Amino acid sequence: MKNNRLLIIAVILIALGLIGIFMSTWFKSYRGPRGMFQMPGKMMDGMMGGRMMNRDEMKDMMQRMMPGMLPPGIKPENLPDPESRGARLLTHYCNQCHNLPSPKMHTAEEWSSVTGRMFTRMSMMSGMMGIENPSFEEQHLIISYLKAHSLKSVSPGTLPSPESKGAILFKETCSQCHALPDPAIHTAQEWNAVVERMRGHMQAMGRRVITDQERTEIVAYLSNNARK
Ligand code: HEC
Ligand code: HEC
Repeated sequence: MKNNRLLIIAVILIALGLIGIFMSTWFKSYRGPRGMFQMPGKMMDGMMGGRMMNRDEMKDMMQRMMPGMLPPGIKPENLPDPESRGARLLTHYCNQCHNLPSPKMHTAEEWSSVTGRMFTRMSMMSGMMGIENPSFEEQHLIISYLKAHSLKSVSPGTLPSPESKGAILFKETCSQCHALPDPAIHTAQEWNAVVERMRGHMQAMGRRVITDQERTEIVAYLSNNARK
């Protein structure tokens, strides 16, 4: 019975999440007045038999229900510039519903829209299950921090030997979760380990995991075009 109630709430949370996606893609920067979609406390109380689901239960449930949509986690101490205010705000606010996202997961441009979606959610759910909503000043600091340490991408049209098998495989495989990374970010030696880590993310996020053969071809392509 308790599980059923938790399930209903999780479904509502995810639905609220979908409204967030809808609003941010439809109205671009529209965030809505603070607390616009807050659920009436009575409704929540009724469903939980007087007890609110707490944040960790919700986080746990989201991770079980929608792993493919959530960022794989990074430890706060492994964030770039971990003592900075931006890193601390990211850890405080962006770890409330899911694992702590790495700033390297998206390009500066992508972060603008992803954070818009996340801030909408936080303002909708502010106060529910102890979810806290950053002030505008804090939002700006989080955005600048993410952008300063973001992923550097390349436009697919400018790739070297674009018709080669390696280039095509790289484009298809490596643009599923973030923009296509610039092969010149890393040296040939480094790419091997990065691609291996990406294989782990494919597994964790429920995507098709590349075969050893595909991995070799992508690493070869990246190595040929790597930073010298
Ligand atoms: C109120 C809950 C909540 C908070 C707080 C939250 N998120 Fe999310 N996040 C979600 C949900 C739900 C999803 C899955 C749906 C989606 O992608 O919009 C998600 C998915 C993500 C993803 C993976 C999807 C993608 O587009 O790459 C990233 C990255 C992310 N969040 C970053 C952040 C950052 C950065 C913050 C802090 C500014 C944050 N989140 C705070 C609920 C939250
Ligand atoms: C399943 C989702 C997913 C796929 C597919 C994916 N990545 Fe990533 N990528 C991530 C996440 C999450 C991060 C941030 C965490 C990290 O750095 O491990 C990231 C970060 C990166 C970074 C920045 C971090 C660094 O070490 O420089 C590079 C470069 C990168 N990916 C390259 C690739 C390449 C190359 C491929 C194709 C083989 C790829 N990604 C496919 C999820 C993915």
